[in-house]
Amino acid sequence: MDTPDAPSSDQQTNSVDSDLLLWWEDFYIPVFEYMLPKMGNLDGKSVLELGTGTGGTATLLAKRGASVTGIDLLPFRIDEAKIRAKQHNVDESIEFALMDAMHLAFPENTFDFIISKSVLVFTDHSLAAKECYRVLKPGGKAIFMENMRYHPLVWLYRKLFIKYSAGLHYFSKHDIDSVGSHFEDMEHAEFHFSSVKSLFWKKILPISFLYRLSFGFLKVLDSILIKIFPFLKRFCWITAIVCYKK
Ligand SMILES: C[S@@+](CC[C@H](N)C(=O)[O-])C[C@H]1O[C@@H](n2cnc3c(N)ncnc32)[C@H](O)[C@@H]1O
Repeated sequence: MDTPDAPSSDQQTNSVDSDLLLWWEDFYIPVFEYMLPKMGNLDGKSVLELGTGTGGTATLLAKRGASVTGIDLLPFRIDEAKIRAKQHNVDESIEFALMDAMHLAFPENTFDFIISKSVLVFTDHSLAAKECYRVLKPGGKAIFMENMRYHPLVWLYRKLFIKYSAGLHYFSKHDIDSVGSHFEDMEHAEFHFSSVKSLFWKKILPISFLYRLSFGFLKVLDSILIKIFPFLKRFCWITAIVCYKK
């Protein structure tokens, strides 16, 4: 039987409920596997999610015991997120609000954690980071899972298919350091260099078996390549930046 302090099954396995992921978000599983242990046991912890969108991450964290506040600029996204939270029976653990990540309407030292996924790219990084530092409790962590600028294939895809991408602030190594500079300490990890190619078997010639096989293989290859050639980090797709407020 579960005791009040016992971690939920999600916590025990660090698993990510695939129902909470969008089609390309297999790629976020290793990112969550990196960042969830940084958050530890979330029972009773307060988490602010910037740009919650359809509420996948807010729901995932609420299922792990956190009290989540999800903010977004778009009312229809908040509505979708509320439905998502209800479907997963965590609507009582999540509050949603319309708010700008660069102007947070919370007092200083409010949250144990702040999290974002593909959101700071829409903001002035520096303004958002300053606000995060302000509302984070001492000892708290802000974790930003964001898209990087220089992955060759992703860069081309954005140029060809995502018209609004020209106005977004994708992360370079300099941007990562600059966000981190608003906090006392930071660390970061980068994900997906060659593994992006496995999407060929998902989107161009969909063969699920080959997609899984190539994704698994290329992920391992990436971790080896990045270890041997650290400069490849700047050509990865996703960065996870963990910022510490002392
Ligand atoms: C690419 S979506 C990501 C949504 C969600 N985090 C996810 O991973 O599914 C970006 C979200 O950030 C929101 N957003 C953009 N700029 C924002 C800002 N300044 N403050 C709050 N939310 C913002 C958008 O409305 C959108 O819902």
